[in-house]
Amino acid sequence: MVWQGRLDAALQRCSSRPLGQLEPEVLTALRIGAAQMLVLGIPAHAAVSTSTSCTAGKASRGYVNAVLRALARTGEDQDAPPWTRLSHPESLYRRWESRYGEEGAASLMSWDNEVPPVGAYSSPEDGSGGGGRFLAGYRPLERSGQLASEGLPAGAYIQDEAAAVVAEGAASLPGRIVLEVGAAPGGKTAHLDRKAFLVASLEISRERLSPWLENSARLGWSSSVPVVGDGASLPFGKCDKIVLDAPCTSTGVLRRRPDARWRWSPQRLVQCVLLQRRLLAEAARTIRPGGILVYSVCSLEPEEGRDQAVQFEADFPSFRRIDYPAPAVLVRDGMVDIFPPEHEIDGHFAVAWIQEI
Ligand SMILES: C[S@@+](CC[C@H](N)C(=O)[O-])C[C@H]1O[C@@H](n2cnc3c(N)ncnc32)[C@H](O)[C@@H]1O
Repeated sequence: MVWQGRLDAALQRCSSRPLGQLEPEVLTALRIGAAQMLVLGIPAHAAVSTSTSCTAGKASRGYVNAVLRALARTGEDQDAPPWTRLSHPESLYRRWESRYGEEGAASLMSWDNEVPPVGAYSSPEDGSGGGGRFLAGYRPLERSGQLASEGLPAGAYIQDEAAAVVAEGAASLPGRIVLEVGAAPGGKTAHLDRKAFLVASLEISRERLSPWLENSARLGWSSSVPVVGDGASLPFGKCDKIVLDAPCTSTGVLRRRPDARWRWSPQRLVQCVLLQRRLLAEAARTIRPGGILVYSVCSLEPEEGRDQAVQFEADFPSFRRIDYPAPAVLVRDGMVDIFPPEHEIDGHFAVAWIQEI
């Protein structure tokens, strides 16, 4: 929930018990009541009454009623720190503040709290695009109550334009036999499938492969084969191209994944960086000489992007960075580096190398 941090801070001021010690149903009822009052502007008496009547058990009902009434009286702390007002973990705010300054960190957090637009990519040849900020084949969709996806061409995949920029660039690089690592739910496959002879779409999570299979059936992917496996121990021979869309902290797409911010921690960042390094090393061993390696993440953290790329180049000097095929305004030092408040699309990082023969 986007506003969880802000709501919890407001509720904690009115609750005699630490929120972490409340029964989950009580906490949920409190959060719903607080969201109705503070975010949706629903009159306090209605919010209190709805949450109270939805709570089971006399004692719990009494507690929810008392806390929400207190919140209605006192409201939010007007001097709350920026990470509370803008509902992010403090450690993430501090890290962004040291990198972007107070104003930059606040504008990024505000961006994360916006309702994201929707859009779809399909090949520019089918004439359906033209409305994208950066891509000819991208088409923003209206959010008018119902998703206006009617009339989309058969192969259109709904995704943010930043994801489409990275995927389309990866697909346009040479390579007939392609291995995709971290394939589900298929945002990259939708692009690779159009251009490659064969795509092996490797994914460690069987569960996450279900939406991949649904997308494949719906969009008629004809070159791609799903494979359950671990990218850190690849069972393949040499490939022409590997597209590693690595697991990451997702700090570039927090407006689309509201819960990801509450999973953020410096420890999780370290775990992701180590896993990415292992996946990169394994991919490097599996590319044929002259082959292409693409690495991407939907994170803004340099450790997962730029620094990871520089470290890889030091560890594997036979890989030479090539200019990523993407609109020049999104590319720095040959790498896609998208900052949401500046480019007004999700934050993604991508880099491509060729293995010298
Ligand atoms: C960023 S997501 C991929 C998104 C996907 N490429 C798309 O564009 O729709 C990263 C994926 O990597 C998968 N993953 C994590 N660890 C992995 C591993 N060791 N081997 C293969 N896949 C892994 C995750 O389950 C997750 O689906």
